[in-house]
Amino acid sequence: MTPTHMQKAKAVLHSSSLPFTSGAHSSVILRQAATFPSSSRSVSYKNSNSLTRQSRSSPSNIGQPWSSSSTITKRTFMTSSSSSYKKVLTLDSINQNVRNVEYAVRGEISNRANAYSNQLAEKKGKLPFDSVVSANIGNPQQQPHLAQKPLTFWRQVAALTEYPDLIESQEANKLFPQDAKDRAKHILEDVGSVGAYSHSKGAQSIRKHVAQFIEERDGYPSDPEMIYLTAGASAGVQLLLSVLISSSKVGIMIPIPQYPLYSAALSYYDAQPVKYFLNSDDDWSVDVKQMAKEVDDARAKGTDVRALVVINPGNPTGSCLSEENVRQIIQLAHEKSLIVMADEVYQTNIFKPKDLPFVSFKKVLRDFSKSTKKEEQSIADEVELVSFHSISKGVSGECGRRGGYFELTNISTDVEAQIYKMASVNLCPSIQGQIGVDLLVRPPKKGEESFELYQKEVDSIHQTLLERSRKMADKFNQLEGIQCGEAQGALYLFPSIKLPQKAMEKAKEEKRKPDEYYCLRLLDATGICVVPGGGFGKVAKEDGTIFLRTTILAKETDAFVDRFGKFHQEFLEEFGKP
Ligand SMILES: Cc1ncc(COP(=O)(O)O)c(C=O)c1O
Repeated sequence: MTPTHMQKAKAVLHSSSLPFTSGAHSSVILRQAATFPSSSRSVSYKNSNSLTRQSRSSPSNIGQPWSSSSTITKRTFMTSSSSSYKKVLTLDSINQNVRNVEYAVRGEISNRANAYSNQLAEKKGKLPFDSVVSANIGNPQQQPHLAQKPLTFWRQVAALTEYPDLIESQEANKLFPQDAKDRAKHILEDVGSVGAYSHSKGAQSIRKHVAQFIEERDGYPSDPEMIYLTAGASAGVQLLLSVLISSSKVGIMIPIPQYPLYSAALSYYDAQPVKYFLNSDDDWSVDVKQMAKEVDDARAKGTDVRALVVINPGNPTGSCLSEENVRQIIQLAHEKSLIVMADEVYQTNIFKPKDLPFVSFKKVLRDFSKSTKKEEQSIADEVELVSFHSISKGVSGECGRRGGYFELTNISTDVEAQIYKMASVNLCPSIQGQIGVDLLVRPPKKGEESFELYQKEVDSIHQTLLERSRKMADKFNQLEGIQCGEAQGALYLFPSIKLPQKAMEKAKEEKRKPDEYYCLRLLDATGICVVPGGGFGKVAKEDGTIFLRTTILAKETDAFVDRFGKFHQEFLEEFGKP
């Protein structure tokens, strides 16, 4: 979160609105901050109208003193010039780690894009484009320009679990296939109601299905008790980091470029990012020798390097690790005593399945047990591994449902108990998110009524993503000064752009980083919202080379690349050749 965000957050609290949260527990901090001080203090709340309006629409106010307008009226005071009340929440008083958090995919550029969207919706003023294309975040179902259609089977099961009376109704026979009804019934037998808390690790039957999925994928046993369902992979990553970061000396290795969840969480938990660099000239490959050196150097400087984050397939790079790469990384983790955090949320977004299939860290880790080298066999049962998966990506793209899981491998029982305790503090992940995980790991099988349609939808999404990624990479490569590797996986392209010297100077003059400047100009001219490479740790080079990340999700790919190409050409006409 940048200071600008914080100022906004402050403004939000000031106007007495409460942001939505995923439950009372997660909103507790904001609530405490915004709760009425005791009546013994002299307080003034001038903007009681907005407070009343917000209190009706926000679910976060349940059980709060301002949950009814009459309460507000009773508690509304006029300003008293003699008030001794001083704001408790100021930029200087809040947790300073919060101020240090940066999250580029939802930063200034995306805020400006939102403002443009509103402007277009309200038909206020003229803009040089008629739509905003959010290519900044891998959110496939976002309307109207990405608009990936939800998988039918998913939504059928979700609908039936929401409204169980439908399952046995006559109408349901016309609308829902039998296997969707059976699945909904089966899920409800365990979770009871989607409105009830489940086990803190998630519903047991769903965790069993996750374990079966992992066993089938990897060929090794998986224990449902070591599986935690989460509100998306983000929640799992943050839970794990919160447990393993015990002081500000702790270092976590993160790739550069990286997905900013990691840098943001490390800032928040006040740990040290220990960067390892992916090679942009070689499909963003990892250099394990260099990684070993980074660990040694950081340790020599007193950093307690504990974990190694690997994102495979990569975000923002779109690269996929070979099985050999994964082996080397696990060997490194063994040699240097590091926990591996394997972010595998894009495991089904694979564009070259023959050459670079997805191979999980769990499988490669367990494969060490079969090594012909005796000294390697112990690796399988020693290296601690946490693997993350999500319903937000893949072909489901159910980002808003907030579902995911992590699996713990070789984590000691007493630490696992602490992780369980911390998961319990959050009570449970959303039940619809958990149902999404069930659908992710147990799609309709051949012979079942929904199989054909499901397969057709899945194939079409894979094909569309592949075509879009190729088309976009081809077009980028036709533009002067732009180089873009073909995506091997995930949902992104990460082209490099050589900027003209004059553009670099102009960016400096405007006190902007060159990549930020280019992306803002792109947005202002075209409505296309992308993320500057700096947001992923890939800062502009002295010679004017910048990076940006775009998703490959825009529905109208031709219009996207045309708008982009026209902008780039005009940019070069304005500033000269790179
Ligand atoms: C690499 C990576 N990990 C984790 C996440 C977060 O996913 P979720 O929606 O499951 O929290 C994302 C989202 O874009 C991602 O790209």
